[in-house]
Amino acid sequence: MKWREYVKQIAPYVPGKSIEAVKKELNLEEVHRLASNENPLGASKKALAAMQSAMMEAHLYPDAPATELREKLASLFGVLPEQVITGNGADNVISFVISAYVNESDEVLYCSPTFPAYRSSTLLMGGKPVEVPLKEGFVFDLEALKANITDKTKLVFICNPNNPTGTIVDSNALEQFIGDVPEHVTVIIDEAYIEYVQENNYETGIDFFKKGYPVITIRTFSKFYGLAGLRIGYAIASKEILEPMLRLREPFAVNRPAIAAAVAALDDKEYTERHFKMNEEGKHFLKDEMERLGFIVYPSSTNFLYVHVKRDGKKLFDELLQKGIIVRPCTGWDYNEYVRISIGTKEQNELLIETLKTIL
Ligand SMILES: Cc1ncc(COP(=O)(O)O)c(C=O)c1O
Repeated sequence: MKWREYVKQIAPYVPGKSIEAVKKELNLEEVHRLASNENPLGASKKALAAMQSAMMEAHLYPDAPATELREKLASLFGVLPEQVITGNGADNVISFVISAYVNESDEVLYCSPTFPAYRSSTLLMGGKPVEVPLKEGFVFDLEALKANITDKTKLVFICNPNNPTGTIVDSNALEQFIGDVPEHVTVIIDEAYIEYVQENNYETGIDFFKKGYPVITIRTFSKFYGLAGLRIGYAIASKEILEPMLRLREPFAVNRPAIAAAVAALDDKEYTERHFKMNEEGKHFLKDEMERLGFIVYPSSTNFLYVHVKRDGKKLFDELLQKGIIVRPCTGWDYNEYVRISIGTKEQNELLIETLKTIL
C-alpha cells in the first residue's frame, strides 16, 4: 500500500533510550535517565491513590469531556470549562490544533531549535513549517518571527519556556507581539514548563487570553505534576477556537486513571512545592558544578539545563551512557556541542557530576 505523500516527509521519531533498554544493552544494574525532562520525584502520592482507585473502573470508558478536570482547571485559572480542552498529552493537543487549522500550503511559523512536534504535525497536514533561528542567548526571536509572517501564515508557535534551550521570552515583548500579529494569524503558546518560571509579574498565555487576545495556550501534566507516563495535557482558548478541535479530537483521548490523577495532582501543593524546591536546588548545584568543569550553562526557566559542553555532545552522551546516565545530545537539532540535561534528584545530580569528572 502506498503511503500518503505527506507522511513520507516526516522523519521517524527517535525516542530517548529507555532505562530498561540501557540496562539490558549494557548489562548495568543502575541506570538514571536525565534525558526526557521527567519529574524525578515520581508521581504525587495523592495522584497515585486517585489513579489506583480509577483503575478499579478500568472496564468503563472515561468521561469523554473530562468534565471534572476541565472544571477544576477553569476555576484554577479563572476561565470557563468550555474554554478548556484535554488531550492525550500536550503532544496530542499540538497535533489536533494543527489538524484543525492547517490547510495544505498554510505556513506554521516558529523558532528553531524547538519542540519537534510543530514541524511533524504541520508536515502531516501538507502545511509548510517556517523555521527562524533563535536569537542570541537561544531565545525565541519575536522580531524575526514578525518579519516572517506572510499572507499564508496560519499559526505561530511560541515555545515558552523553550525546549531544548530552557529560555523564556520577555512577557511585555510577547504581549506586544500578540497584539501586533495580523488577524489571519493565531499565536499558540506552548507552556509545557511554565510552572518553573520564577520571574515576578510574568504574564502567561492564559493571562493574555483573559485580557482578550485570541491566543491558544498548551500545557501538560507530564513535567511539574510528574504524570508523563499517563499522557495528559490541555489547551485553553476561546470556545470558538476550540470548536473544530473538539470535532476531531478522539472522544476518549484521555484515560480514566489520567483524569483522576490530574485532578488529584492539582490539589497536592505539598508535592509541587517540594518538587519546585528540589528542582531549584538541583539547577543551582548542576549549574555551578558544570561551570567549574568548563561548560557553559544557559539560564533555565525549566526542569532541564541546556549546556554547551565544548566537545562532541554525542560522544559525551555515549560515555555517560556506558556509566548508566542517559542525557540528551542536541545533535538532532544540529547543535553538536550541546547537551540537554534534566535536573534529577540530589543523588542523581551528584552522581552526574562525579561521573562527568571521571570522564573529563
Ligand atoms: C515544549 C514541549 N511541549 C510539549 C511537550 C509534550 O508533552 P506531553 O508529555 O504532555 O505530550 C513537551 C515534552 O517534552 C515539550 O517539551
